[in-house]
Amino acid sequence: MRAVVLTTYGGPERLSVSEVPEPAVPDPDGVLIRTAAAAVNPVDLQTRAGLHAGRSAVRPPMILGWDVAGTVTAVGEDVTGFRVGDQVVAMSAQMATGRGTYAETVALPADIVAPAPATVSLTSAAGLPLAGLTARQALDALALPEGATVLVTGAVGSVGGLAVQLARLRGLTVVAQVRSARDEDEVRALGADRVVVDEAHFPAACVDGLLETAGLPQAIGAVRDDGRAVSVVPTRVPAAERGIHVAVSYVEQDGPGLSALGSLVDDGSLRLRTAKELGFEDAPRAHRLLAAGGVRGKLLLLP
Ligand SMILES: NC(=O)c1ccc[n+]([C@@H]2O[C@H](COP(=O)([O-])OP(=O)(O)OC[C@H]3O[C@@H](n4cnc5c(N)ncnc54)[C@H](OP(=O)(O)O)[C@@H]3O)[C@@H](O)[C@H]2O)c1
Repeated sequence: MRAVVLTTYGGPERLSVSEVPEPAVPDPDGVLIRTAAAAVNPVDLQTRAGLHAGRSAVRPPMILGWDVAGTVTAVGEDVTGFRVGDQVVAMSAQMATGRGTYAETVALPADIVAPAPATVSLTSAAGLPLAGLTARQALDALALPEGATVLVTGAVGSVGGLAVQLARLRGLTVVAQVRSARDEDEVRALGADRVVVDEAHFPAACVDGLLETAGLPQAIGAVRDDGRAVSVVPTRVPAAERGIHVAVSYVEQDGPGLSALGSLVDDGSLRLRTAKELGFEDAPRAHRLLAAGGVRGKLLLLP
């Protein structure tokens, strides 16, 4: 099968399409998925550059990618929840397991797989798993009561954009922070109640919680005394101050959680945004585009 293989750590040019052995049969508790699309995420760029090499048992040559949407082509003998032909999505913790999704066929344990939302294209569904689970689990960690106010930084990004929508669904009032006034309409359309433009004008000590996705530790200044902050950017975690509880959230594989997110897409309460669909051979370009910033919606790689 064809896959985008990272030959050695380095720049985007280290990604190339190669023929690699196709997984032949699934594990007893696993499924094989024929990929419709794999999404590109910041972690893929970080892994490619070797930034996670110290923490990961997986080494090049390897296949990158955490997000996949596709069709089940085989199921293991112990799997009851999926059948051949099902359209599914999954988030694979590639850095830990080596099971990358930039490949024509992906073999995954069935318990991290979920039905693909039926109301959007299968390719666009690839934008849901990693960003959606990150936003959902970070909001769980934030644990704000209904009616509380949350500041979401990087609100127009993949995690931020879904976090804004999920926070509203949890009955939170959302203050969305964006880099530029050009993004204001988009975050309001996602459900933001208030918008803060740029990083120099955080309101002081007025929100109950912070969900930090943009690497802006100073945003903690907006949190009230004894409030809560959760960061998904482990390299730029806000320092605790004024009794504020600060935590880092690392996304975990979660089939049932992903299934719940898919249901929200299908009932119209969660909107997915696709920036561009590119071919596997354009993986270096996709990495350059994401690194350059300004991408709104997911970059998807199609076999
Ligand atoms: N802990 C975890 O498990 C976990 C999971 C997923 C992601 N992450 C991390 O979370 C971060 C966000 O991921 P993502 O997938 O949402 O990335 P993304 O789609 O690239 O979104 C990041 C957003 O932040 C914006 N941003 C950057 N600097 C900003 C600033 N100063 N003010 C306002 N907005 C700013 C970007 O805007 P521009 O495009 O204009 O730069 C972009 O919209 C990344 O660092 C990623 O590595 C962590």
